[in-house]
Amino acid sequence: MRRNRQTDWSRRLVAENRLSVDDLIWPVFVRVGHGLEEPVESMPGVFRHSVDRLAEVVGEARDLGIPAVALFPFTEPELKDATGSYSERDDNLVCEAVRAIKKDVPDIGVMCDVALDPYTDHGHDGVLEDDRILNDESVEILVRQALAQARAGCDIIAPSDMMDGRIGTIRRALDAEGFENVQIMAYSAKYASAFYGPFRDAVGSSGTLGKASKSTYQMDPANTDEALRELALDIAEGADMVMVKPGMPYLDIVRRAKDAFSMPTYAYQVSGEYAMISAAGLNGWIDRDRAMMESLLGFKRAGADGVLTYFAVEVAKRMKG
Ligand code: PBG
Repeated sequence: MRRNRQTDWSRRLVAENRLSVDDLIWPVFVRVGHGLEEPVESMPGVFRHSVDRLAEVVGEARDLGIPAVALFPFTEPELKDATGSYSERDDNLVCEAVRAIKKDVPDIGVMCDVALDPYTDHGHDGVLEDDRILNDESVEILVRQALAQARAGCDIIAPSDMMDGRIGTIRRALDAEGFENVQIMAYSAKYASAFYGPFRDAVGSSGTLGKASKSTYQMDPANTDEALRELALDIAEGADMVMVKPGMPYLDIVRRAKDAFSMPTYAYQVSGEYAMISAAGLNGWIDRDRAMMESLLGFKRAGADGVLTYFAVEVAKRMKG
């Protein structure tokens, strides 16, 4: 076995998987402000940008060949309420960001998260009644949120809320309003995970959550077959692309998803995964660059067609260099 591993050229020749810049989706945090580049404390190297900075920041990603960005808003506390009503407004921050990018950097894909957690004062992805998250009532709001994003010019609607039936309902609403070309990437197998911690800091949604638990809508990390049922439903309801989230602890799900459905399949290397690699790197405990590249190659090996990763720009620069 070692004969093929002797030299760099031979190792390259026998390599089975390769990461390309075309595999990367870059999540970008947006916040109200001017010339803002605000560090996210728990994610060293990640910033919140104001809309006026997006032409430059997203322009660089486009120049590097990154196909798409995923936008996440930091919502100021005074704009939050129990039903996340700010999410439905055509003049909300995400819609402003989409319009700015579509104007200044038209040739990059723009994806928007559909969920209520950045917008609700309790931090849940849906609306509450007696400490329960209501399903269909939440879906109605999510539909209006998705339509606002589509009107702003969003290319890919990405529901991450994990309410039942939302993909079909959003698809029908998009079609009815003339947005039949807007794509849907479903966060289909999204687990109730500890690895989202730094993200909640980044978007300011570390709300109280109260007695209700995200485990009543996000998946149990113990389950695999259930992920396939979630995927089957979202695909039947009209998802164009599917996602598994988090990434590294769920590579088995990525592989099963790809094998079972042959859909465009993405993994989200989430905030906690980024934070772990960054923190260990900063401490000199691991080689940050190598760990970053190795972790992303793992997604390719598992069958992912692409990865949402906070490392996207760094990786793209490295591959170009
Ligand atoms: C919103 C959403 C979350 C993430 C993406 N969309 C947080 C959550 O569900 O609690 C997490 C992304 C990350 O950790 O990088 N529903």
